[in-house]
Amino acid sequence: MHVVSADQPLPTDAAHRRAFIAAFLRRPGTMGAVVPSSARLANVLASIVPTAGAPVVVELGPGTGAVSAVIDERLPPGARHLAVELDAGMVDFLGRTRPGLEVVHGDARDLGKLLAERGVMHVDAVVCGLPWALFDEPTQHRVLTEVGHAIGPTGAFTTFAYLPGMALPAAHRFRRTLRARFQEVLITAPVWRNMPPAFVYVCRRPTG
Ligand SMILES: C[S@@+](CC[C@H](N)C(=O)[O-])C[C@H]1O[C@@H](n2cnc3c(N)ncnc32)[C@H](O)[C@@H]1O
Repeated sequence: MHVVSADQPLPTDAAHRRAFIAAFLRRPGTMGAVVPSSARLANVLASIVPTAGAPVVVELGPGTGAVSAVIDERLPPGARHLAVELDAGMVDFLGRTRPGLEVVHGDARDLGKLLAERGVMHVDAVVCGLPWALFDEPTQHRVLTEVGHAIGPTGAFTTFAYLPGMALPAAHRFRRTLRARFQEVLITAPVWRNMPPAFVYVCRRPTG
């Protein structure tokens, strides 16, 4: 089994980087980053993924699969890992490079519908790489509502934000939104080994 160490850069080879940059150039308004997340950040995001049982895990905005790889390392046999991606190029790339991943070409705003179509009624963990800063408030609320319905009172949700933007009004607003939407919102220590440095929100028990 391929193991991704927290101290090693992810195997984001030239093809991964090219695919990521191509998607950024194609749709800068939906990418929110020019390079994939580091292994260190991916490990923190994936820390909520159950390592036993037969969990269902959903990834939102997998991009080229930097976080998908780490999720897969944690998942036990019999688990289900669905990845919802908006960009057709990324969907194609994931289909070629991650054959085991259940890639869903769709919009995170329609998460409930996408899951129902695939017979998924409950999700144990949602690991999210969506570019929240590019979403307007109604979109943020809608996606968070869908995530809350998916994880219910027992699941968990992680998402990240970049440290340099932490003091911006939009970041404060998003933090307030998370705290209104989840009873528990933890903020991790900064992940310095990422470009740019980032931190992770770990959310549980949706309020609505
Ligand atoms: C910042 S990249 C993160 C990629 C990867 N998770 C990582 O950390 O390296 C954001 C990804 O979210 C996708 N995305 C943006 N809006 C989306 C939406 N509404 N639904 C699903 N995916 C979306 C983009 O196409 C892109 O692949």
